[in-house]
Amino acid sequence: MTQLITMSNNGVEPPYSLLAELTHRCPLHCPYCSNPIEMASKAMELTTEDWYRVLSEAADLGVVEVHFSGGEPLIRDDLDSLIRHAHSLEMYTNLITSGIGLTTERVARIKEAGIENVQVSFHAGEAKLSDLIGGYKAFEKKREAANAVKMAELHLSLNVVLHRMNLDYLNEIIQLAEEMGAERLELANTQYYNWALLNQERLLPSWDQIERAREIYESAKTRLEKKMEIIWVIPDYYASAPKPCMGGWGAIGLTVAPNGAVLPCPTAGIIEGLFFENVREASLRHIWYDSKSFSHFRGDAWMPEPCLSCELRHQDGGGCRCQAFALTGDAYATDPVCQWAPTHYLIEKAIQEANSNPIIQSSPMIYRRHLTEKPVSKRR
Ligand code: SF4
Ligand code: FES
Repeated sequence: MTQLITMSNNGVEPPYSLLAELTHRCPLHCPYCSNPIEMASKAMELTTEDWYRVLSEAADLGVVEVHFSGGEPLIRDDLDSLIRHAHSLEMYTNLITSGIGLTTERVARIKEAGIENVQVSFHAGEAKLSDLIGGYKAFEKKREAANAVKMAELHLSLNVVLHRMNLDYLNEIIQLAEEMGAERLELANTQYYNWALLNQERLLPSWDQIERAREIYESAKTRLEKKMEIIWVIPDYYASAPKPCMGGWGAIGLTVAPNGAVLPCPTAGIIEGLFFENVREASLRHIWYDSKSFSHFRGDAWMPEPCLSCELRHQDGGGCRCQAFALTGDAYATDPVCQWAPTHYLIEKAIQEANSNPIIQSSPMIYRRHLTEKPVSKRR
């Protein structure tokens, strides 16, 4: 049956994962948030019944794992029943949370519903810096949440987004993860679109910071090999080639945004001129296999030079479409982080600025919040 489905869809494989962004509401104000600048309000969110249908369609489509995310997904009262539904459909379930609202009692409820892994985000290894970055007194609550997950004997991952403000404290972050008993520590580099692009001067690290962090990471990875999995890669602004973003456009996973828009990656909604279909009007199967938005950047027919004649094009897919759009205004452009991209000077300029001042720049931080007016990005 799977064989038939695959063959009838021009070689497009079924999706492996679903990122279910239940809400954009969140108590935190992280200045690097990947949520859009113009966030969905509560009134625009899908209903519980909508999400039941989305999860059933995802399972039917072949999705193996569901990541419940946001915003802060714990804000939705129906989270437990959505986890239960996904679990009943035999999909692996992961909760991505700030930890705010994850009490011992709530952990017991999501465990009973069938959650398999909980990923708690942290900003730093101690309270003062952590609360400054998140714009909210959250550190102790996060610790309590992580403890509650461990006490319930659930799998615990920690996720820390790295940037200029916390990169010098990587030792403390790794120590915290050890103390918490995390099985996995994801050190995620800040990606510069949406809120992070607005705050790039405050967030883009210097080369020295990255070098020091790399040494700390490598030694911790060896030391903790049998105890904790640690994941980190050199940020793409400092790498010579772009990343194969999301494993390729429409290749591995799909994101359902709080308002029901279906996206090939969580950020794709920023790309102007590309229409993204909505689960209120179309099935996931149709969107995955037949929609223009998902087929648009599959394969290499869309690529410009130098990608089209580059031997790496099938490895990195020409880089990240969202980054290309955010930095150049053209989603078809070669990702500017590529050393051969005509717009690579944009990255060189940003790096030069980040390395010219070893102290955090003086520009004000723009914290994530629901805005009445769209702020002006320095890029584009
Ligand atoms: Fe990748 Fe295009 Fe750069 Fe080649 S030219 S490395 S395909 S982004
Ligand atoms: Fe959207 Fe890279 S984040 S394609």
